[in-house]
Amino acid sequence: MKKVAAFFLFYLSAQVTFSQSNTTPAYKNSKLPVATRVAHLLSLMTVEEKAGQLNQVNGGAFTGPAANDPGQQAKMKMIQAGKVGSMLNVTGVAETKVLQTIAVEQSRLGIPLLFAYDVIHGYKTIFPIPLADACAWDPELSRQAAAIAAKEASAEGLHWTFAPMMDISRDPRWGRVMEGAGEDPFLGAQIAAARVKGFQGNFGEENVLATVKHFAVYGAVEAGREYNHVNVDRYTAWNVHLPPYKAAVQAGAATLMNSFNVFEAVPASANKYLVTDVLKKQWGFKGILVSDWNSFGETMTHGYAADSADVALKVFDAGSMIDMETRVMVSQIPGLVKKGKISMQALNEAVARILSIKFKIGLFDDPYRNCNPERQAQHVFTPAHRELSRKAGQRSIVLLKNNEQVLPLQSQQKIALVGYLAASTDDVFDFWVAAAKAPAYNPVTVQEGLKHAGANVVFAKGFDENNRTTQALTAEAVAAAAQADVVLVNIGLSGKLAGEDRSLAQPEIPDAQIEILKALRQTGKKIVALVSAGRPLVLTKAEPYCDAIVYTWILGTEHGHAVADVLFGRYNPSAKTVMSFPYAVGQIPVYYNHMNTSRPDPTDGMGNWYSRYRDIPNEPLYAFGYGLSYTSFAYSQFSLSSQQLKKGQQVKATVTITNTGKVAGEEIVQLYIRDMVANRIRPVAELKGFQKIALQPGESKKVSFAIDAALLSYYNELGQLQLEPGEIKISVGGSSDKLLSAMLQYE
Ligand code: GLC
Repeated sequence: MKKVAAFFLFYLSAQVTFSQSNTTPAYKNSKLPVATRVAHLLSLMTVEEKAGQLNQVNGGAFTGPAANDPGQQAKMKMIQAGKVGSMLNVTGVAETKVLQTIAVEQSRLGIPLLFAYDVIHGYKTIFPIPLADACAWDPELSRQAAAIAAKEASAEGLHWTFAPMMDISRDPRWGRVMEGAGEDPFLGAQIAAARVKGFQGNFGEENVLATVKHFAVYGAVEAGREYNHVNVDRYTAWNVHLPPYKAAVQAGAATLMNSFNVFEAVPASANKYLVTDVLKKQWGFKGILVSDWNSFGETMTHGYAADSADVALKVFDAGSMIDMETRVMVSQIPGLVKKGKISMQALNEAVARILSIKFKIGLFDDPYRNCNPERQAQHVFTPAHRELSRKAGQRSIVLLKNNEQVLPLQSQQKIALVGYLAASTDDVFDFWVAAAKAPAYNPVTVQEGLKHAGANVVFAKGFDENNRTTQALTAEAVAAAAQADVVLVNIGLSGKLAGEDRSLAQPEIPDAQIEILKALRQTGKKIVALVSAGRPLVLTKAEPYCDAIVYTWILGTEHGHAVADVLFGRYNPSAKTVMSFPYAVGQIPVYYNHMNTSRPDPTDGMGNWYSRYRDIPNEPLYAFGYGLSYTSFAYSQFSLSSQQLKKGQQVKATVTITNTGKVAGEEIVQLYIRDMVANRIRPVAELKGFQKIALQPGESKKVSFAIDAALLSYYNELGQLQLEPGEIKISVGGSSDKLLSAMLQYE
């Protein structure tokens, strides 16, 4: 509030009117084509004003280090002087209107600002964290969630979200895995494209611009440590990391964000190969690039640029554009142009991209289009939005274990609910909850969700927010369990430990929680673990004490309702993991699409000399693509329409899936391939298709996948798709570790 008031006072005290000519300048004439308007505006702009369009300034809470902040008064003056093109972290109709008015009415050319914000999984109605949402394997649902986030954000003054994040990661030590779609490039690409379409729609009033981030390969930070070094070769980049970014660009993403990390020893923001060669030339990206928070400045910390002028020149030459919070572009570009180090033509080209988007979304014609108090009142946190969040929550929950069908619960069962997390609003919410910060937007806890479902529940804390237990807490939990028919224990890690700058060397279940599980186990009651966390945790120590394990992630506003829906079988779980669950921390990175290695297993005649650990299995505890239902599915009659595939033709892989259980359910049918011999070695399995089907008890359905050369191809290190003749293993199943296979010959 303080900030708004300061902005507002400044605005009132600084009313400056520029002489208006009677004729409307061409760039303000909405009847003219965008290109004409852009060209006219560029012809009027000074080099300083052009550099201003490359300057993005923080106007709210800090989502990065505050070291460069010049203060509010200075920022206002910069806007008046035409030296700010966009702002981040300013939200709300009133707040954005004040700043937009300064830009439009008090700057010389009245170029409107773009307002950007991290709308990662909802704005006020919060959806499951993106990693959980991906477990639904339902791009249409992901699209709908993004569309609602856009509707709410755009009703509160925003034009632009810094999402979707699509960094492939195989390392649950990295906190930011919560923001992505997991370890698989194929699934990641589908979801990235869906989220982009959801946010952007047709660039209308209820949409926001999407951002492809973080470009590129940020998810490969060494040892999962935040902002760490990245060492990935081009072949791996093209096949593992780049596909989701590419899919998002092809889906029409208007903007893209540089990542903090280096690629091939050059910071991503200054990386000509990534930005110019791959993004602009190979993929034909025509949109806006924005740095990450101070990522231009951090090229100096990386030891790649010497001073501000060096930074500006290097990032500009690489093809990068908007500077978030370093202010080197606005301060250095005019001088670099004057010295002839940057051409006016290149600067115009960059600025034209930004202006084009502003024209395209109608900001010059109605700069206040997202400052409508009625829309703000009607479009945010509505029952319909909450309903979709609940649906997404149900479909994100992964059932990892369910011995003797402990679940679903029966309505008459007496329940002991144990665990601090089950009653905490904060800990099942963060990271990135956008504007859902007031108590009015608190999520439904598991305790509330169960009560609302009419369950007979007794709650005991078991452990506290610091993951400590005491004799008293344990005794209380055991007493509650003794009275109950079934015990639900909400273990896991707070959402505050998920997200940016939340790397963990030990993504495990805390000791105190294991102790509580042990104590409860001794009561002889059935134990159901509800695990809330923003990443796959190592569950190996907890697993033996649990009859059932429900991975609830962090589901947003409707968290507790969605969990209750699944526990009581009002929704039969269908989600499948999108990251492998490690058996032990020492196994990380562990992922399904690994290479075969030279000595994969003893059955290959290697005797004891093979790739393994002596103390733990090679396999993760739960594989990629795994997830149970309250019913069971049988796969049979897998066949290929032909054993040979010729160039330009298709082969159909068909399998029959039968619901062999007693209740209706949904199954995610997965298609994998393995290129047995290629010019570059290929992974033991690669996801290449999936379909979600619904089956009544006893019902069977045939599912087919069309296979052609494009689907089987892989990238070489130049980013060219290729496929040599030879054998390809085609597999289908309900999990990457349980597949039916057949051989296909590509000729
Ligand atoms: C950050 C993040 C990025 C975010 C930006 C703006 O530090 O890395 O994802 O969009 O700041 O908040």
